[in-house]
Amino acid sequence: MSDLSMEHRVSEAVRFIEDEIPYTPEVGLILGSGLGVLADAMEDVTVIHYEEIPHFPVSTVEGHAGELLVGSIRGKKTVLMKGRFHLYEGYDVATVSFPVRVMKALGVKSLLVTNAAGSVNTSFAPGQLMLIRDHINFMFRNPLIGPNENALGVRFPDMSEAYSAELRTIARDAAAELGLELQEGVYAGLLGPSYETPAEIRMLRTIGADAVGMSTVPEVIAARHAGIEVLGISCITNMAAGILDAQLSHAEVMETADRVKESFLGLVSAIIPKL
Ligand code: 6GU
Repeated sequence: MSDLSMEHRVSEAVRFIEDEIPYTPEVGLILGSGLGVLADAMEDVTVIHYEEIPHFPVSTVEGHAGELLVGSIRGKKTVLMKGRFHLYEGYDVATVSFPVRVMKALGVKSLLVTNAAGSVNTSFAPGQLMLIRDHINFMFRNPLIGPNENALGVRFPDMSEAYSAELRTIARDAAAELGLELQEGVYAGLLGPSYETPAEIRMLRTIGADAVGMSTVPEVIAARHAGIEVLGISCITNMAAGILDAQLSHAEVMETADRVKESFLGLVSAIIPKL
């Protein structure tokens, strides 16, 4: 990142975005690998390419577009990140969480984060959706390291309800109304980009993880610091290593994400207006 302070970079990005959009969004939505189709739920969309936004990073991975969309989902003014930044791409944790700081400055009060994840829980199945109850930061990076931005939040933020209980109830009710099965569990965030070994997956299961992925944790920490309420939903795209007698591949992850996109889209669209 450049030498400019975080605050300064955020305000330049926000000034640029505000000039492009007709209103300020209340809800933030971050879409994971292969889930970009959720952007189709948006109306009256203004598309801003990440490259255009001052200080915004640019995503590199296949299956991740790089666009910020501002529009309305069933009447709720929403800012959507189509494509996110991962530590495994080589970005530092401040860069990965930068868009959340921008969302906060735009006026976002609640954030829905989605991701593709492998199942650590042997009773889950690929294609199921999992409400994130809590996370384990196995990335051992934290976006809040460094001088605290006192204007944003406290030095030592509480993480005992990182994923809002109230928003989880909203998500469960929405799933039930749609007749959609929704698992619930703990997401472990790891650096990647190699998938885990079977021994690592056994360890993760022992310490209480239900799903594993390579994203979400930095953004959620930054959001909670800034007082944004968070809801997280994982798309279980595959079983993690050592559960089935099969190898893991990015192709399988993308295939499953593509297969469930309609139900995921339905659930997200039902939840957003209630946030
Ligand atoms: Cl098995 N592991 C990680 N770290 N990320 C994933 C995954 C597994 N499946 C999808 N994303």
